[in-house]
Amino acid sequence: MRKPFIAANWKMHMISGETEAFITAFLPLVRDVKDVDILIAPPFTSLAAASRLLQSSPIIIGAQNVHYEEKGAFTGEISPAMLTDSGCSCVIIGHSERRQYFSETDEIVNKKIRTARKNSLEVILCVGESLEEREAGKTFHVLEQQLAGSLKDIPLSGMTIAYEPIWAIGTGKTASNEQANEAHAFIRGWLRKNREGADHIRIQYGGSVKPDNIAGMMAQPDVDGALVGGASLKPDSFAAIVTGASAK
Ligand code: PGA
Repeated sequence: MRKPFIAANWKMHMISGETEAFITAFLPLVRDVKDVDILIAPPFTSLAAASRLLQSSPIIIGAQNVHYEEKGAFTGEISPAMLTDSGCSCVIIGHSERRQYFSETDEIVNKKIRTARKNSLEVILCVGESLEEREAGKTFHVLEQQLAGSLKDIPLSGMTIAYEPIWAIGTGKTASNEQANEAHAFIRGWLRKNREGADHIRIQYGGSVKPDNIAGMMAQPDVDGALVGGASLKPDSFAAIVTGASAK
């Protein structure tokens, strides 16, 4: 009932020539996949190249960040209208790297989601616990805080949630299928209690997703897709993840 949704988060990788080469190689590999929504989030400087090459493709173009004001004196920031103008229809907000290295709080994340949604951008909201928090038995508490703070007064339409345990990001350490599903089920349970439409919202898993672990993840009832970092940088490995999520 929920269409699988696989997203590539390229982080600070891929200049425009690399983006062009990736897309040219990637498109034929996924041409026959119709039952998976695919998103690519290149860095800002590669959005124009991606948007030109993906114009007549169903692949969604996403951004990795957005500012919470619509315009003004905010040197170095990027507005929702600038993203839309560059061909984006979605934006990743609250990634743990933004929270950790750029001091993004749930309050800032909430403001960003509001502005993005007001400007018709779909949003992938990232939540997830650190290793320390998991070991202290605080995973659900952390998820609840992040959801309540980030989604304050925000309805679920146009939203995707990405569960990304920080200890699994870029470490090669994937959460087990059961650990992921347990967290996803908790997130969906919280959403059911607090919002309309929780059964329709897609919850992606993120953290060292690879071609060889996607099928096991997708077999979990509450896992609806993946947010992929490292393994999304090569066309063949990202295509293998997309096809691995096909026909869930
Ligand atoms: P990873 O990153 O796949 O390299 O672990 C995932 C993410 O940060 O979105």
